[in-house]
Amino acid sequence: MEKLMISGGRPLQGTVTISGAKNSAIALIPAAILAESEVILDNLPLLSDVAVYSEILEELGANVSWEGNQMRIDPTHIISLPMPNGPVKKLRASYYMMGAMLGRFKEAVIGLPGGCNFEPRPIDQHIKGFEALGATVTNEHGAIHLHAKELKGAKIYLDVVSVGATINIMLAATRAKGSTIIENAAKEPEIIDVATLLNSMGASIKGAGTETIRIEGKSELRGCRHSIIPDRIQAGTYMIAAAATRGNVLIDNVIPKHLEALTAKLIEMGVGIEELDESIRVIGKQNYGSIDVKALVYPGFATDLQSPMTSLLTQADGVSVLSDFVYSNRFKHVPELARMGAKIRVEGRSAIIEGHPLNAAKVKATDLRAGAALVIAGLTVSEGITEVTGVEFIDRGYDHLVTNLRELGADVWRQND
Ligand code: EPU
Repeated sequence: MEKLMISGGRPLQGTVTISGAKNSAIALIPAAILAESEVILDNLPLLSDVAVYSEILEELGANVSWEGNQMRIDPTHIISLPMPNGPVKKLRASYYMMGAMLGRFKEAVIGLPGGCNFEPRPIDQHIKGFEALGATVTNEHGAIHLHAKELKGAKIYLDVVSVGATINIMLAATRAKGSTIIENAAKEPEIIDVATLLNSMGASIKGAGTETIRIEGKSELRGCRHSIIPDRIQAGTYMIAAAATRGNVLIDNVIPKHLEALTAKLIEMGVGIEELDESIRVIGKQNYGSIDVKALVYPGFATDLQSPMTSLLTQADGVSVLSDFVYSNRFKHVPELARMGAKIRVEGRSAIIEGHPLNAAKVKATDLRAGAALVIAGLTVSEGITEVTGVEFIDRGYDHLVTNLRELGADVWRQND
């Protein structure tokens, strides 16, 4: 079993360069199959989820080559194959194969997705969208079967603001006949990134990043070259780690606007922040004030930073309240932090965090962001070694985490037992 070992207590110092966004990459890769010729993706993060996605596309006959941070996807010879099992099961975001295959072939069989299951994550809004576009959708023995004689543009109101449903409907609608309007759409930067790629492929998508997205369907899309936006969650995680260790770190290759909600909260608790054009400097302080944080859909505070933020708030004086209005029960990191001496109580969708120094312990990452929270917690502890298992979750979303932390002066290493 692989573990992350952390001998903490050292302030992080230096510069970290942020990679391309995971949650963009795993939507852009399936989007490429909607084209009739080669799509080149630059600034690709080196993550296990990305590797699984390239495996999925290769299984369907796409020619995928991946060198450094560039992936070339030639979907010319792709075929429609049912995928009830196999790599789709390893990945939550394999649900994007539903929209992409439906758009390209008007049919798909995709096993229900795996991935980080910190709580039940329904896909009813994705299905509602596909049905509105004219598809028949059935769940047969744990695989979703989609079929449409023809996809026709429609007006779709999302009952829940969902990143996945917004992107999935966009994927299918780009190859539908006529106009589609998605109302109450999610506004995350990753949605704009996917729309930018699709428009470069010849699609007509307007309004991505607002709550109303209009799509004019096209019968054919072409290949193109696209550079993935920086990962705002990875950036936010390093910002929080810099603050928690009372360090001084320049987070480079970021879009500061994407991090506004976090930046505001860090400033409110007393962290020093300098915003530059494409980077943010975080200057840690010895004492922090307690704050209240509400995780909301974008542009609110990101739910994916809620767990890392919990670790930082254990370092503040007084009692902080952190509520998650996106996922009501995303608190699996709390019992693990408690093993490290944290004083946290979960009440409904809120964690009530009393500032208290942490101690080293053996803890388990149960999902990606919970893993990041435990690493940050371990970095604050100056005596003893924190051991984090469940490293496979962390590898899903943090490109070169150990190398980056070591370059910032942390004493972190991987150990295989
Ligand atoms: N929801 C429904 N029905 C649906 C879809 C969503 O009820 O059909 C609910 C969810 O249960 C949740 C809320 O709507 O309460 C928002 O879910 P959303 O669909 O936006 O989440 P997602 O698309 O499945 C993506 C990211 C998550 C991130 C969320 C919220 C990917 C692959 N995943 O998930 O990222 O937490 O948006 O921003 O893009 C992570 O990176 O660690 C991660 C979990």
